[in-house]
Amino acid sequence: MRPLAKGLLILIISAGTSFSQISVLKPAFGTHGMVSTSDSIATAVGVQILKEGGNAVDAAVAVGFTLAVTYPQAGNLGGGGYYIIHLKDGKNYAIDARETAPAAASRNMYLDAAGNVIPGKSLIGGLSVGVPGNVDGLLTAEKRFGKLPIEKVMEPAIELAQKGFIVDGRLQEVFHHAEKELKRFHSTMKYFSRNGEIYRQGERLVQKDLANVLLKIEKGGRDGFYKGEIAEMIAKEDQATGGVITVKDVEGYHAVVKEPLMVTYHGYEVMSMPPSSSGGVCLAEMLNILEHFDLRKYGYGASQTLHYEIEAMRHAFADRDKYLGDLSFVSVPMKRLLSKAYADTIAREIDPFSATPSIDIYPELIHPPHEGTHTTHYSIIDNEGNAVSVTTTLNSYFGSMVVVNGGGFFLNNEMDDFSAKPGTPNQFGAIGAEANSIQPGKRMLSSMTPTMVLKDGKPFLILGSPGGTTIINAVLEVILNVIDFHMPLARAEMAPRIHHQWVPDVVYYEPGALVYDVKQSLISRGYRLVPREAIGEVQTILVTPSGYEGVADPRGPGDAEGY
Ligand code: DON
Repeated sequence: MRPLAKGLLILIISAGTSFSQISVLKPAFGTHGMVSTSDSIATAVGVQILKEGGNAVDAAVAVGFTLAVTYPQAGNLGGGGYYIIHLKDGKNYAIDARETAPAAASRNMYLDAAGNVIPGKSLIGGLSVGVPGNVDGLLTAEKRFGKLPIEKVMEPAIELAQKGFIVDGRLQEVFHHAEKELKRFHSTMKYFSRNGEIYRQGERLVQKDLANVLLKIEKGGRDGFYKGEIAEMIAKEDQATGGVITVKDVEGYHAVVKEPLMVTYHGYEVMSMPPSSSGGVCLAEMLNILEHFDLRKYGYGASQTLHYEIEAMRHAFADRDKYLGDLSFVSVPMKRLLSKAYADTIAREIDPFSATPSIDIYPELIHPPHEGTHTTHYSIIDNEGNAVSVTTTLNSYFGSMVVVNGGGFFLNNEMDDFSAKPGTPNQFGAIGAEANSIQPGKRMLSSMTPTMVLKDGKPFLILGSPGGTTIINAVLEVILNVIDFHMPLARAEMAPRIHHQWVPDVVYYEPGALVYDVKQSLISRGYRLVPREAIGEVQTILVTPSGYEGVADPRGPGDAEGY
C-alpha cells in the first residue's frame, strides 16, 4: 500500500460511525420534499430553497455551492461530479461534470525512468489535478432544469462564505488527519489555518476570497469561473505546485448532458450514471446477474446470498477494470455488458457453492496482489416529484491538498483515478486497463454511482454514496435491502455491508455483517475475509404512499430533513 493511501484509509475508517448510533436511527419524514446530504448546513439550505419555491434542481444546486463552503474536504468548486435528474414530466437526464486530463497530460506522466509509478505524484500537488468540472455541472443543471434566479440559489453559499460558519468536530477531525499534507502548501495554510495552526472545532471559518469567486460565478455564469481571473488563478496555482493545467484547459472545459443508463430489476427501473463513471455499468451488471437468484429466499446476510452478491461484484468489477473508460476516447462493449443475455451466461457459470478465484477472470490483467483508499453525495426530491441524485468529489479528502491562491478553494487529485500504469492499483486498489490510460482531454474512470430507482416511471428510491470503489457496492446493497429483503429504509441503511472488487481477491466486511457461521461457511467456500470499519455513506430517500422518508447514513456526518 502506498504511504498516502494508508493515511487516507485510516481517515476513511475513522470517519466511520459507532454502530451504537445505528439502533436509534429513524428516517426523516416529509410530505413536500426531502433533502439528504453529508452536511447539516447544506441540508438546511436545500430545505430552505424548496420552501421558498425552488424545485429539486434549485435545491441541489444550492446544496452543491454550499458544500463547497461548509464541506471543504469534498464539496467543491475545484472538483467534478455526476448528476442524475428526473423531472416531473417523466424526462430523465444525466450530467457528466467529471474532470478532464489537461492537454499536456501524457500516458506515462506518473512513471519513473524504470516505468514504475512514482508514489504520491498522482495524489498530491499540482500534477494530480484534473481540469475542474463541477461548476459547469452545477450551472448546467440550474440553467436547464432549475426555476429560481441564480442569485437566489447561490445566496446561502455566498453568505456562509462571507460570514463564516463554525467548524464542527467532524471537520476538525478531517483537517487533523490531513494536517501534514495540508501544511505542505502555502496557499492552503493561508486559508485554512490561524497562527500557523489548522482550524479547530468551535472556530469560525470565514472565506472571503471564496465568496468573491462565488459572486463572480453568480454574475458571470460559466465565464465567471472558466475565463479570466479565476481561470488564470487556477492555472497559476496548479503550475506553481508542479502541475501542467493551462488557462486554455480551463476555458475548454464543458460538462456534458447525457442519457442516464437504465436497467430493469424485478419490475423496477434503475437509473444511474453512464461512463465516464463505471458506477452505472457495474450496478446494472450486478443487478442483472442477481436477478437470477432468489435472494429473498436465502435472506439478508445468509452465506448463499453473500456468495451470489460477491460473485456478481467480482464479475462486474473485472469488466470495469478491463473495458471501461471515457466513451469519447475508447470503445466499450456497452450493449453486451448491459445485456440480460451476458448476465445469464455469468449467472449460469457461478458455482453455487464455491468462490471463483479472481485470477480465473482475465488472468492477463492481474499482477501480483496489491491492496490499497472524499466524496459527497446528496439526494433531493420536491413536492412535484422532481428528483436529483448528485455525487461530487475532490477524490481524496481535500483533493490535491492545493488551494488556489486568491480563490480559496481546493483543487482535486482526480488524476489518480486514471490507470497511471495499467494493472497497477490506484488509491482505491482499482487496477484499470488500457481503456482508462491517460490521454489529454480524457475523463478518468469513476466509481461514483448517483442512482434513482423508478417504479412506474416515478422515483421510488434516490441514493448514492462516497467511498471510491466501495460506492458501487454500497448502492447495490441498499437497493437489495429495500427491493429483495423488504427492509424499512433505516434498516436498509444500517445493515452492515460487504465489498469485493475483483482485485484484490478479498471480501471486506463491516462489523456485524458476517455472523460466526456465515464466516465459517464463506471461508470453506474459498473466500478470504478482511474486516473493515465503514463501507460507503449512502444518502437515501424513499418515496412511500404517505410521503418521503430520508436517511443520511449513520456512517457519516450527514443529515436528512423533510418538510
Ligand atoms: O470517482 C471516483 O470513483 C473517486 N474519485 C471517488 C472518491 C471517493 O469516493 C472518496 N471518498 N471517500
